[in-house]
Amino acid sequence: MSGHGEAQPMKARKSGPLRGVAEVPGDKSISHRSLIFGAMAVGETRISGLLEGQDVLDTAKAMRAFGATVTRHGEGAWTVNGVGVGGFREPADVIDCGNSGTGVRLIMGTMATTPITATFTGDASLRKRPMGRVTDPLALFGAQAYGRQGGRLPMTLVGAANPVPVRYALPVASAQVKSAVLLAGLNAPGETVVIEREPTRDHSERMLLGFGAKLSVEKTSEGHVITLTGQPELRPQVVAVPRDPSSAAFPVCAALIVEGSDILVPGVSQNLTRNGLYLTLVEMGAEIEFQNPREEGGEPVADLRVRFSGNMKGIEVPPERAPSMIDEYPVLSVVAAFATGKTVMRGVKELRVKESDRIDAMARGLEACGVRIEEDEDTLIVHGMGPGGVPGGATCATHIDHRIAMSFLVCGLAAKQPVSVDDASPIATSFPVFEGLMQGLGAMIQRSNRA
Ligand code: S3P
Repeated sequence: MSGHGEAQPMKARKSGPLRGVAEVPGDKSISHRSLIFGAMAVGETRISGLLEGQDVLDTAKAMRAFGATVTRHGEGAWTVNGVGVGGFREPADVIDCGNSGTGVRLIMGTMATTPITATFTGDASLRKRPMGRVTDPLALFGAQAYGRQGGRLPMTLVGAANPVPVRYALPVASAQVKSAVLLAGLNAPGETVVIEREPTRDHSERMLLGFGAKLSVEKTSEGHVITLTGQPELRPQVVAVPRDPSSAAFPVCAALIVEGSDILVPGVSQNLTRNGLYLTLVEMGAEIEFQNPREEGGEPVADLRVRFSGNMKGIEVPPERAPSMIDEYPVLSVVAAFATGKTVMRGVKELRVKESDRIDAMARGLEACGVRIEEDEDTLIVHGMGPGGVPGGATCATHIDHRIAMSFLVCGLAAKQPVSVDDASPIATSFPVFEGLMQGLGAMIQRSNRA
């Protein structure tokens, strides 16, 4: 799985109306953080609704390797007995973070200010991704990184014995980098400051406050200035992980493009740093009702009633919205293909350094499905073909990328001819129940024989 195992081809064909309730799994970002922050607290953190996707399981394994006791008690129910800030022990073996950029970058931050050494690796996708964006700021604390050319994994990180606090302005809008710096700052004396020009997902800030860290966020002309006081004692928490809006995106987008659909997706986060896709879909003319708004697990959530929307129009997605929907552009580009007119997505070059180059993967796959695409380094433009208008009939390469696999399977549910993916196995990294959940709504998704 996730690039380590055998490929699992899968095919989606034009389906009848999708109906029913889609209960998507726990949020991936919050799940990783629950385990990592739990490992840095003193005492027992109890977690419910943890995403049991491979990415998160790899983080659980890593936390054990650093000395925390991580136990599964039942579906989504886990405890973490932490070792305290600065209490990580040196792992006896290489830490394999599988497919997960979030896992490896946050864990590197966590150990960077403890005097231990660890070597990190991952699957073929993760080994291609840039780590300099985290090791550069971690070096300011006094950590040293020895990786492959271009700052790639495998990489050995030597934690700082005498860390100093850091003031760091993020050069890229990245919650992973922000979080890595904050986590490193936890075990540095004094105040660590992170400045972000564009707000990115704020789960680390919210959760660190919950775990008892001293942290403040000030909105200034420079952007958000986040100040963290180092060396707190973190208190264990009871964490109820809300459902993942990035996973909810797949059944939601499928219902929007499959004629006659009417589904309910309960408990979807409306956190303003995560809801850009939903704003965009509504602007395009999607019929989504946000029912029963409330708080769950410290996050604002709503139940989404989603109906087939035959009148969606292409729009220009505001580039400043990108951080709040960064993982949703692949599936948005599928919806755009079934809308009328063109959808312009600018300011999206970060997509090129995700689990795959997502601009390239979507452009090539959609073109193979008969959709006209324009792209440059920082832009993706999809020329919509209207409801039911996408020819399909292609096999798309997923490049060890769960979201590319799910996006093309959604495309196949409404295209004229079936759409296949060469490898659906990476879906298990973030949405292990995707196949059954979608079939339960009436989606015609099937495994094909392995090549
Ligand atoms: C994540 C941050 C985002 C996102 C990833 C999860 C996180 O990455 O793409 O899926 O949990 O912090 P970047 O920080 O690189 O944008």
